[in-house]
Amino acid sequence: MLDAASRNRDFPSLSRMTYLNTAAEGICPLAVRDALVEYFEDKQRGSAGRPSHMAQWEAARALTAELYGLTPGEVGICSNSSEAFNLAALALRLQPGDEVVINDLDFPAGRTVWLQEGAPSVVRVWRAREGALRVEDLIPLLTPRTRLVSTSLVSFFNGFMIPLPAVIEAVRAHSPALLALDVTQALGRVPLDLRDVDLIISSTHKWILAPHGGGLVGVPSARAHEWTVPAGGWFNLEAPFEGQVGDPVVSKPGAESFMVGMPNFPAIYAIRAALEYLKGVGVENIYEAAQPLVTRCLEGLADLPVELITPQEPDALAGIMAFRHPRLPEIFEQLAAQNIHVMHSAGRMRVALHGYNTPEDVDHFLNTLRTLVS
Ligand SMILES: Cc1ncc(COP(=O)(O)O)c(C=O)c1O
Repeated sequence: MLDAASRNRDFPSLSRMTYLNTAAEGICPLAVRDALVEYFEDKQRGSAGRPSHMAQWEAARALTAELYGLTPGEVGICSNSSEAFNLAALALRLQPGDEVVINDLDFPAGRTVWLQEGAPSVVRVWRAREGALRVEDLIPLLTPRTRLVSTSLVSFFNGFMIPLPAVIEAVRAHSPALLALDVTQALGRVPLDLRDVDLIISSTHKWILAPHGGGLVGVPSARAHEWTVPAGGWFNLEAPFEGQVGDPVVSKPGAESFMVGMPNFPAIYAIRAALEYLKGVGVENIYEAAQPLVTRCLEGLADLPVELITPQEPDALAGIMAFRHPRLPEIFEQLAAQNIHVMHSAGRMRVALHGYNTPEDVDHFLNTLRTLVS
């Protein structure tokens, strides 16, 4: 996929560290820096720069749509995943007695909005067993009152990837619920088939190699009615400058209702550049290149005295692995001192492997870890 020369050219900082933390922060290719400079130059033109800003925004939507399997009009871009989920909650207009299913492998952004004091719905928790979310454990939680099942495709916690077709089938068979899917830990890393998902959300600063500041929202047009956000603003409204002040306002339908004000154009330029880069490399190629590294890393970890908390089921693996050890804080510090970057939080250590990682990265990490845990 990338050879040593293209890796050095596009990601120069990677030659100075062993970077295994894309699940926290992706490294941007230099094309993203160029896009940020382009934004600055367009901004220097004042309002004459606006057509360029809008062109970048349209391009970012179109590229996102390709990854989501939607049309550009079915994509909105807000500022992060948490914002997208809060807007989605407004759209859902839950009533007392409505039910929402969340799970204990999910990132807080997708599961906390339903848990605020005063939130009207009953929340049911789909619990993982030995690190895996099993569809047979979801089914008893689904009822005629279930309005929403919200889950990540790939868990930020241990990397478990849910069996999406089976989850969709269960939701459809056992409830009238909508399915909201957070693809932050999969987009750009795993080829996706998101047909029949009702709401798709992703952050931008991880596997798609873009910077912070984007929340990529996909709403299939068939679901636009359910996901129209009743928020104030102007960018999201039909004819915001017409009629009398005090008249009721009308939101644009679906994805467009998730963009309430002026888009975050610096991020949009950069997201456009990152998605173009990704398209040039190809997500299939990234998957093919990185999956053997995941296997190599898991096999190495299995030989060490650590407690793996990522189920070793090939269909449930994406780019993330996690493990526990009694001395993780100290091990983390030692790894960092040797310029090996992983994540240590929530009681586990997390390793993330993207297409720009190499077998040498994995071996260096495993060899160093071996000396620290032995
Ligand atoms: C699955 C998932 N969703 C969302 C986020 C981030 O949410 P936000 O874009 O609101 O910061 C993360 C990690 O930071 C994540 O792992």
